[in-house]
Amino acid sequence: MNAILVDKLTKVFPGGIVAVDSVDFDVRVGEIFGFLGPNGAGKTTTIKMLNTLIRPTSGTAIISGYDIRKNAAGVRRRIGYVGQNVGVDEYATAWENLVLYGHFYRLDRSTLKQRMNELLDLVDLAGHEHRMVSTYSGGMRKRLDIAMGLIHWPDVVFLDEPTVGLDPQTRAHIWDYIRALARFLNVTIFLTTHYMDEADQLSDRIAIIDNGKIIAVGTPDELKKSISGDVVILSPCSAREEDCQGFIEKSRQSLADRSYVVAMQAMERDLAVYVTEGETALPDIVRRLNQDGIEVRTIAFSRPSLDDVFLRYTGKIIRDQEGVPTTYADIQRRRNKRKS
Ligand SMILES: Nc1ncnc2c1ncn2[C@@H]1O[C@H](COP(=O)(O)OP(=O)(O)OP(=O)(O)O)[C@@H](O)[C@H]1O
Ligand SMILES: [Mg+2]
Repeated sequence: MNAILVDKLTKVFPGGIVAVDSVDFDVRVGEIFGFLGPNGAGKTTTIKMLNTLIRPTSGTAIISGYDIRKNAAGVRRRIGYVGQNVGVDEYATAWENLVLYGHFYRLDRSTLKQRMNELLDLVDLAGHEHRMVSTYSGGMRKRLDIAMGLIHWPDVVFLDEPTVGLDPQTRAHIWDYIRALARFLNVTIFLTTHYMDEADQLSDRIAIIDNGKIIAVGTPDELKKSISGDVVILSPCSAREEDCQGFIEKSRQSLADRSYVVAMQAMERDLAVYVTEGETALPDIVRRLNQDGIEVRTIAFSRPSLDDVFLRYTGKIIRDQEGVPTTYADIQRRRNKRKS
């Protein structure tokens, strides 16, 4: 069964900017659905339309059986939204914040109390509910945000970058809560994130949006398999060289006729070469570039990660909180850092 069914959803802003361009996808009940895309791709616009905050120009979506165009009130009753600290009063306790939210949804006193206790247990804040939120850690804050988004038993919860600014341990902890929501409460989760590892770890399926269009949908494994083979990252640029792009372009031309090359992607200081098999391609790549007088400064190959999927489909490296990575080496450094 589908929790969300999106049908040719389109948003054209004044001035003719097509932010979302006839998008179709579906999200199943109880699924964790990752929604990824580079800056300006149309993620927020899509979520705003699904949350009935802005009206589509054309097309529509059905959420829990309600049409976002025809029955916005019905949709709002069935969805929860967890953004960055939305609506939390710092100078009130978690309990007071939850009560206030419960009143928005007109829950009666005893129902609300039962629900609050249930949610405090779920997000592991029981025992801390009478503390002022301003004394909470980042992770506790986020868990409170999640509880607040759930107070009215929504079928679908939108989580907008749920772990931004949290340390790795706390992030992993939040992931457990998100999984618990989907698994134990059968809540459908629509997740946006700029962290590829988060999308990979959490999502049952992922959609990648770019320039307002969905360019790939699948499980993380399917997406990785879809860019079959390995990825070889090489840099012909030394630290001092001015014309790095020139070297990259020369390398690209030099490898263009190799049968094992599936695709190539130039980055600021590296060239990503998608190959059918890394082990055999690697020596040939080096030989070939040397023959053409190009010196390879660094070279590495790996199985495709979701970062590679994203890069391959969008041609962009996703930004995250550590700042914009400009080379593939940055991504690998981060990957190693995460592992250690
Ligand atoms: N109110 C608006 N009026 C005009 N153009 C808009 C408006 N809101 C968004 N856009 C444009 O629509 C496109 C999609 O923007 P959107 O905010 O949906 O992207 P996003 O995927 O959420 O990006 P980010 O990762 O940076 O949050 C962009 O080109 C943006 O400039
Ligand atoms: Mg956005």
